[in-house]
Amino acid sequence: MEKFYLTTPIYYPSGKYHIGTAYAETLADFIKRYKTLQGYDTFMLTGTDEHGQKIQDKAEEVGQSPQEYVDKQAEIAKELWKVMNIKYDKYMRTTDEYHEKAVQKIFERFLKQGDIYKGEYEGWYCKPCESYFTETQLVDGKCPDCGREVKKMKEEAYFFNMKKYADKLVEYYDSHPDFIKPSYMKNEMRNNFIKPGLDDLCITRTSFDWGIKVLSDPKHVIYVWLDALTNYITALGYTSDNLELFDKYWPADVQIVGKDIARFHLIYWPIFLMALDLPLPKTILVHNWITMKDGKMSKSKGNVIYPDQLIERYGLDATKYFLLRNVPVSTDGLFTPEEFVNRYNFDLCNDLSNLLNRTVSMVNKYFGGVVPQYNGTPNEADVELEKSASEVITTFENYMNNYEIANTIQSIWSFVSRTNKYIDETQPWALAKEIEGESQSDKDLKNEKLKSAMYHLIASLRQIAIMIRPFMENTSNEILRQIGVDLANIKWDSLKEFKLIENAKVIEKGEPIFMRLNQEEEVEYIQSLMKK
Ligand code: ME8
Ligand code: MG
Repeated sequence: MEKFYLTTPIYYPSGKYHIGTAYAETLADFIKRYKTLQGYDTFMLTGTDEHGQKIQDKAEEVGQSPQEYVDKQAEIAKELWKVMNIKYDKYMRTTDEYHEKAVQKIFERFLKQGDIYKGEYEGWYCKPCESYFTETQLVDGKCPDCGREVKKMKEEAYFFNMKKYADKLVEYYDSHPDFIKPSYMKNEMRNNFIKPGLDDLCITRTSFDWGIKVLSDPKHVIYVWLDALTNYITALGYTSDNLELFDKYWPADVQIVGKDIARFHLIYWPIFLMALDLPLPKTILVHNWITMKDGKMSKSKGNVIYPDQLIERYGLDATKYFLLRNVPVSTDGLFTPEEFVNRYNFDLCNDLSNLLNRTVSMVNKYFGGVVPQYNGTPNEADVELEKSASEVITTFENYMNNYEIANTIQSIWSFVSRTNKYIDETQPWALAKEIEGESQSDKDLKNEKLKSAMYHLIASLRQIAIMIRPFMENTSNEILRQIGVDLANIKWDSLKEFKLIENAKVIEKGEPIFMRLNQEEEVEYIQSLMKK
């Protein structure tokens, strides 16, 4: 079985996750489930990035030790992923002992190889905050966190020699067109960071101690990125005695990151891997932002939405549908209450739920609930529907080659619309009515047409149910249950047959899977969430 390894960012556990974090996780989960459905041996890694000054400060704020604080936060994060039914295979925490040991070993190796040197870090220091800032981070020349005076200070620090690898990195970009997706990110890296000359990266601090200690110089702790980025290999056992997972899954097939951390993943991470003599991931997928009408989500603006709030009221599938459908990977996507409710009402309720409902009730009415077989010669309308059915699978697969997930979902919904249109074209109710009182030969013909229509509708619904499985599992199960298709062994390849088992039975009374929302009330409700 071919393997497929994918990773998410490891998030800072410094507060409750909003829908932006949930988006990144859902995106990864979609890919994981799609690949699993295709028969890959998949492994998805997620987790938390638990060291650093900010976490230390947060813990202090709530009167806990950093360890107590991150322990609790990691539990809260896992709880959310459980509610969202995220199918990760490993949850990694940078405070895990295996990780800390591995990072220490990696540091010593770099030092020995001459990739790391000791120098001086210079910046603007805020004593009460015990933090350094760069010139540009200052607000009116003062500390951006507390507004107090800052002082230019120097401290001893270790640096990683990035310059040494710059040419090799550019060569790699050019010879591996799949390495960076979407591809425009490559030019951004080149023009903004590589061409002006890479700065060496400061990788230790002495000004705080919530971090991994440098073995050979323990007054230094390893500062954020060397600690965080290496999680993708230490989680697989890199540098430990047990390399089974590492040998099997590395290099990663896709690593998902937001554009805020693109630079670290497209420049520093590949350079670390080169220095370790390890293969680079096949693809780093950089996604854009969920934004609000007034810009980025932030507590102070009072425009934050949390995933659990949407899930509680509208269900998990509708929430995932909205996130993935409305936020394309390659551009920002807007969250508005109006858009959320519209998508729910139009896409989920009108298009999908009604298609299922109408179909189930017709099969009950005309064939006593048993999905009819038909004579096997499709008429014109049938042929066209079958053609769209096979086209949408190819379109889906092609989009997924570039991880254009919003587009894949859009193509599923065009097929839903196409199937609704098929009902209008074939007019089953008219066929049923005409069958009465016709001559025997006309009767047979129309009866075949009616059978064929029901068969094609159920076959389309089966296909839709399989295609939405990577992100709407509950809905998929519910559709399959209502149309009497066995859930066992559903595989992507079974899509390619537009065929049904014989004598499938639909449920006696269809149940709507999405009910129409009152537009005004729900928009107001979502607005009220944002103000809390
Ligand atoms: O940066 N829209 O963690 P973090 C879409 N620990 N995605 C969003 C988003 C939004 N509005 N807000 C956050 C860190 N994200 C580091 C990462 S990795 C070795 C270390 C997602 O908690 C997006 O994927 O700030 C972004 O890259 C990630 O959350 C940042 O999470
Ligand atoms: Mg961040």
